[in-house]
Amino acid sequence: MVIYEKKYDVIDLETGRLDPLIFTDEEVYREELDKIFGRAWVMIGHDTLVPNRNDFFHTYIGEDPVILTRDANGKLHAFLNVCRHRGARVVRADIGNAPNFMCAYHGWTYSNQGDLEFVPGEDEAYYRDIDKEELRLVEAKVETYAGIVFATWDKGAPTLEAFLGDARWYLDMTFNRLDGGTEAFGPIKWIEPVNWKTAVDNCSDNYHVPTTHLSAILVGTQMQGLPRLTHQKQFESENKHIFINGHSITVRPLEKPDQARQIHGVTEENRHLFEDFYRSTFAEAEKRLGSFRAGGLQLGNHSIFPNGVLGFRLAHPRGPLETEFWHFALVEKDLPEDLKSSLKRASGNYNGVTGLFEQDDMDNWRGVTRGSRGSLARAYGQRLSMGVGHEGRNPDLPGIVSERYVSENNQRHFYRRWEEFMNADSWTDIPLEPITANFEGAATIKGTE
Ligand code: FES
Ligand SMILES: [Fe+2]
Repeated sequence: MVIYEKKYDVIDLETGRLDPLIFTDEEVYREELDKIFGRAWVMIGHDTLVPNRNDFFHTYIGEDPVILTRDANGKLHAFLNVCRHRGARVVRADIGNAPNFMCAYHGWTYSNQGDLEFVPGEDEAYYRDIDKEELRLVEAKVETYAGIVFATWDKGAPTLEAFLGDARWYLDMTFNRLDGGTEAFGPIKWIEPVNWKTAVDNCSDNYHVPTTHLSAILVGTQMQGLPRLTHQKQFESENKHIFINGHSITVRPLEKPDQARQIHGVTEENRHLFEDFYRSTFAEAEKRLGSFRAGGLQLGNHSIFPNGVLGFRLAHPRGPLETEFWHFALVEKDLPEDLKSSLKRASGNYNGVTGLFEQDDMDNWRGVTRGSRGSLARAYGQRLSMGVGHEGRNPDLPGIVSERYVSENNQRHFYRRWEEFMNADSWTDIPLEPITANFEGAATIKGTE
């Protein structure tokens, strides 16, 4: 038997040792763009950002600029925003409505179905010797999950349903709860001097919360009328920490189905209004998700591989030492307007660029990124050993479930997933956990059909 050495061997699942080179190295970064962002299903937008025919929204897959557009027939497309002539951008606006896109360099014009429709001088300058069919805009595959748009460049990629796998069983509790679906507001955009992965793995770091966010917690818990969060409470928490196919999930058990979910924007004053909303929508949610998912659990912090952080929010890579964050607020369409605005405001106030929590977090991610640059940092490595051996299967919850809420199991497996992508020649070498969860209820990957 020939044993091939793995090119990337950066995480030891037994000791939790992680090689910090992955946070700083230019060559590793270039390869991530190909092997991770060039292959994975990447979140790029939301249905409600392009509600009408001919709407477009400018977005990214990794560093590649992408036009997300709804054509005249209502079909979604994702095109590389690079002119096939000399590579200039064909769309320069962030958002708009247009049936076709004219490159401002020499005037090549494409339809919003990707066809190259017009080339100035086609007869004269090109002597009719140009294959317009071959020079269409480069197009990614597009699929949606409950209104969230994902795209992949890789024609060999599995379906989005297989890519999300059983993670969707949990994600449904937030993104697929009601017939009306969700709507996206934003984004707030900003750049931080951090490696993109530091923000992704942090979504499962329940260890840092009482330390890093102490002052934010003191303010927040006072507003919410809740007792203060301590380390001890985190260690004893009944919440769960779960990993599936690269996606990291946390969930909280609910004591009663109409309990206001623990989200930014719920205050002591408005909690009863949220409870009224959950009470009045419970039957609908139960029909969609079954009673356990509708009223027994709440999705907590989570990340969607590769760069979805805390829901529909994106960490776009911009070099090994820089990340562009796009913060969207995603709310249920049927939520009463005053509760919607409360969630929207709080979402930015906690996790926007000047967000109470975001400021604490970015300081840590900057520290981890900068600290990884020295040679001694590389020699010693990082230690993600918390809870090794204390994870397994749970009859009620799909995925790899940690014994405690505070664990580094999701982070270790996130880097193992990173290795799987980086060491694979194609999608056929990338393992996928089969879908085993019981998706009780009427909700589907499409949301409502
Ligand atoms: S680069 Fe677009 S028309 Fe020349
Ligand atoms: Fe945090």
